[in-house]
Amino acid sequence: MIGLIVARSRNNVIGKNGQIPWRIKGEQKQFKELTTGNVVVMGRKSYEEIGHPLPNRLNIIVSRSGNYEGDKLLTARSVQEAIALARDEEALRRANFEPQRNLNIYISGGYGLYKEAIPFVDKMFITEVDTLVEDGDVFFPEFNADEFEKKTGESGGDDISFIRTVYTRRVQTKKAGDKELTYRKLTEADLDTFINMRITQLTEEYTSEGREVPKNVNLAGVLKEYYLRHLADGTFVSWLALDGGEIIGTSGMSFVEKPPYFTCPTGRLGLLSSMFTNPAYRRMGIAQDLLNRVVEDARDYGCGSVWITASDMGVKLYTAYGFEHNGNFMQYRF
Ligand SMILES: NC(=O)c1ccc[n+]([C@@H]2O[C@H](COP(=O)([O-])OP(=O)(O)OC[C@H]3O[C@@H](n4cnc5c(N)ncnc54)[C@H](OP(=O)(O)O)[C@@H]3O)[C@@H](O)[C@H]2O)c1
Repeated sequence: MIGLIVARSRNNVIGKNGQIPWRIKGEQKQFKELTTGNVVVMGRKSYEEIGHPLPNRLNIIVSRSGNYEGDKLLTARSVQEAIALARDEEALRRANFEPQRNLNIYISGGYGLYKEAIPFVDKMFITEVDTLVEDGDVFFPEFNADEFEKKTGESGGDDISFIRTVYTRRVQTKKAGDKELTYRKLTEADLDTFINMRITQLTEEYTSEGREVPKNVNLAGVLKEYYLRHLADGTFVSWLALDGGEIIGTSGMSFVEKPPYFTCPTGRLGLLSSMFTNPAYRRMGIAQDLLNRVVEDARDYGCGSVWITASDMGVKLYTAYGFEHNGNFMQYRF
């Protein structure tokens, strides 16, 4: 996932005299949480303002003039080149950076980087800071809000308050082999196809264990009722991969709530389901791309973790992504 992180004032200012023009306790927390373990891409001036690579993440500095290389530090000549570097295993080795899990790339400013990246970022994490900055000299570029789905998240701040927003691009494209695939969210109009694919998948899983599908269960009916209800209240999301108009990959995430606990103060959990890729499109990274999108949605929803009952085939994918076995997980069957 390619994301963008910014905090802007009410009048769209992001910088003044080479600095961020506010200090608000807790405002930078999200930046640290999102970028740690991942890749942060920043402009030369922003990097010089910080003065050193940020720890526990790969720092890629975009500069046409300077050369910054070292431990977890690389230089690129453009944002596009930075993204290519972040995906280049040899470059990661050179920077002594060993990804522990699926890598997200976060563009973190300033102006020129945002301007170059906005046309293709998948997500924008925009913190709206409730202040007017006079004489700001760096602004966040204009963008077409219609291309994004906007969600409002937590708020915080002290003298100056802020509110988190996440803009997710509605239609995303990505190359897979020689194909240009489209990724977008499931809508009511897709439900009949989605349900057929789901039932085919469930039937395959069920019968592969030598069982016969029960005849008295109208799965299509109850699935439709479930999806309609939970799509409407936002407690089910699904990303689809399409080749032309045809759905060739699916994913699903249901959001549930438990009484909050220390490692999950929201009490919210994501339950993963419906991970399916048409056999002709397997081994192209599509399942991982779909997984990443629904996992990111679970993060935006405030989930503390995502749970899955993995098929044998799925275990490899989920382990590579960063899922871990939970030794004490048990279930009681009726
Ligand atoms: N509020 C926020 O969330 C936020 C985030 C980041 C930064 N800021 C603020 O914004 C200001 C810095 O931003 P800025 O826009 O002035 O500088 P910047 O983007 O940090 O650095 C500018 C330099 O980056 C390189 N560069 C930028 N765009 C490029 C591109 N598309 N291709 C290749 N190289 C590119 C160039 O380096 P060379 O000259 O070396 O070629 C350029 O001079 C500071 O005030 C900082 O505090 C705020």
